Amino acid sequence: MTRHFLDIADLSAEDLRAILDDAHARKAARKGWPKGRVDADAPATDRVLAMIFEKNSTRTRFSFDAAIRQLGGDALISTATDMQLGRGETIEDTAHVLSRMVDAIMIRAKRHADVERLAAISTIPVINGLTDKSHPCQIIADLQTIEEHRGNVKGKTLAWIGDGNNVCTSFIHAAARFGFRLNIAAPEAYLPCAADLDFITQSGADVHITADPTEAVRDADVVMTDTWVSMGDEDAEERLKALCPYQVNADLMALAKPDAIFLHCLPAHRGEEVSAEVIDGPQSVIFDEAENRIHAQKAVLAWCFKG
Ligand code: CP
Ligand code: NVA
Repeated sequence: MTRHFLDIADLSAEDLRAILDDAHARKAARKGWPKGRVDADAPATDRVLAMIFEKNSTRTRFSFDAAIRQLGGDALISTATDMQLGRGETIEDTAHVLSRMVDAIMIRAKRHADVERLAAISTIPVINGLTDKSHPCQIIADLQTIEEHRGNVKGKTLAWIGDGNNVCTSFIHAAARFGFRLNIAAPEAYLPCAADLDFITQSGADVHITADPTEAVRDADVVMTDTWVSMGDEDAEERLKALCPYQVNADLMALAKPDAIFLHCLPAHRGEEVSAEVIDGPQSVIFDEAENRIHAQKAVLAWCFKG
């Protein structure tokens, strides 16, 4: 069976735990090593990863490139507009062609359905590097960061403040699989989507949704937010207005546990979703989180190649 990594919700709790444990182990094993050195087990030897970007990226692009090299493999990168995909070649034909040329595909796409179409045809693993629906790779890095600072995430309370967006969706999936409590505070217009609400009901995930950010952060071990205007959002003005009361600032952080950590997947907008004093302050672990994209993406790739 080809192992795709399209959504946290598609994987079992056991597989996800194994991926996260592998991310921890890979990071520990190369402590102090130069970044270009290949891991001892080199699980991607002779493998090539193709990366396709329909949207901008810094962390996903560089972390996957570094990741595949540290696993002993190589990367090919293209924007979708440089490909015939950008001129209307079908996703299905693209999937057939790339399956003959490379060993895995990581794609950042505008439409999640396009990634599903790619995976449906590809005979090689397809990895979701962010879509309008979800951002599963980010969440592995985030959970790694949380566990480094606070121990096993099971039973912890995570607070998501602001837009119920693609990153939030992957946290909802992760709450069900990893057994943590997720409090979400969002305004009516930017709540998690209907599919997320169905997932919460069906999975029995410990997810609590409120309009009140102070309620969401109470006793939280982790406080998280993301941009109020995601790539592809066209209602920036309405969003900034509706989300204004949801800024993570020192007053809000003071209501969480005293040792709570702050996470943001980045890129951030200081003065909008988070104040500079919080994101640049002592509770912020955003650059551990960014670094962990490499270790987490290596664990995802290694899991895919084991299929
Ligand atoms: N967090 C994240 O995915 O960053 P990039 O958009 O820079 O890849
Ligand atoms: N929610 C953001 C995440 C960027 C990494 C976006 O989709 O633009």
